[in-house]
Amino acid sequence: MPLTAEPLHPVFAARITGLDLTQTLTPDQVQEVRSLMDRYAVCVYPNAVSLTNDQHIAFGRQLGPMQRGRVLKVTGRQERLSDWPELVDVGNLDPDGKIQAPDSRARAFNNGNRLWHTDMSFHPNRATYSLLNSHLIPPSAGETEFADERAAYDALPNAMKERIETLVASHSIWHSRMLSGFPEPTAEEIASRPPAEHKIVQIHPTSGRKTLYLASHASHIVGMPVEEGRALIKELADFATQPRFVYRHRWTQGDVVIWDNRCTMHRATPFEDLRYPRDMRRATCRENEVVEAFMH
Ligand code: OGA
Ligand code: MN
Repeated sequence: MPLTAEPLHPVFAARITGLDLTQTLTPDQVQEVRSLMDRYAVCVYPNAVSLTNDQHIAFGRQLGPMQRGRVLKVTGRQERLSDWPELVDVGNLDPDGKIQAPDSRARAFNNGNRLWHTDMSFHPNRATYSLLNSHLIPPSAGETEFADERAAYDALPNAMKERIETLVASHSIWHSRMLSGFPEPTAEEIASRPPAEHKIVQIHPTSGRKTLYLASHASHIVGMPVEEGRALIKELADFATQPRFVYRHRWTQGDVVIWDNRCTMHRATPFEDLRYPRDMRRATCRENEVVEAFMH
């Protein structure tokens, strides 16, 4: 059955139906999923029930090299999904299923997702697709917002395009965590994930479109005074996240939302996270094969 795409926003994002995510895809279906990503950058796949962790991983694996294992250490965090090292837990639950303690490092770390970011820009091997599946959603709020950085790039004045064409930003997870109120990182945390550098204008490899590549992880521009680089990053991020480039996803339980980290940013939005459980699990594809066994 062919897939049907229903646009959700004037410049990007679509709701896709006609695919059973629990089944192995045919090569044509894989191709179709990829070309829909190249066109829309954010694809929402509604599902009557959430995928099992194994189905989620199997689906993601068909779309590229998959992350497996933790990419960084959060001191004292207990992993709820430790039996599925491919999955990142972005919800607010402890391993015992209870809502995280108000003062826990794990909660403070995940609340950093409320800043505009793209996944894993702090790593040299970038994330391509993130696949986020909702298992439990709060009765209200807790939406996720997405911004189309290709459309934002296209809309930049030419003088700005020329100014930023060759600039490189340094990205560190500890920078965005510091901005979002995470406590001083421990030596173990800092050592677990050093910064990575990426150009802030990129050609998206599979669509050929030019795009910004920004994130709250970007702490400065290489070779530029820190404050000047930071101001430029802020100016570009503010431009790129204007309402005309933003789609806000209101979750229904079971949804799988796939976004392309190479050309979008996203952020979680607040909800009563000490009152309601929100169980969200993410599988992540990478630009290159993952070689390290555990910390990568
Ligand atoms: C993520 C993320 C936002 C959310 O899964 O990478 O940033 O709304 N999630 O949970
Ligand atoms: Mn994210």
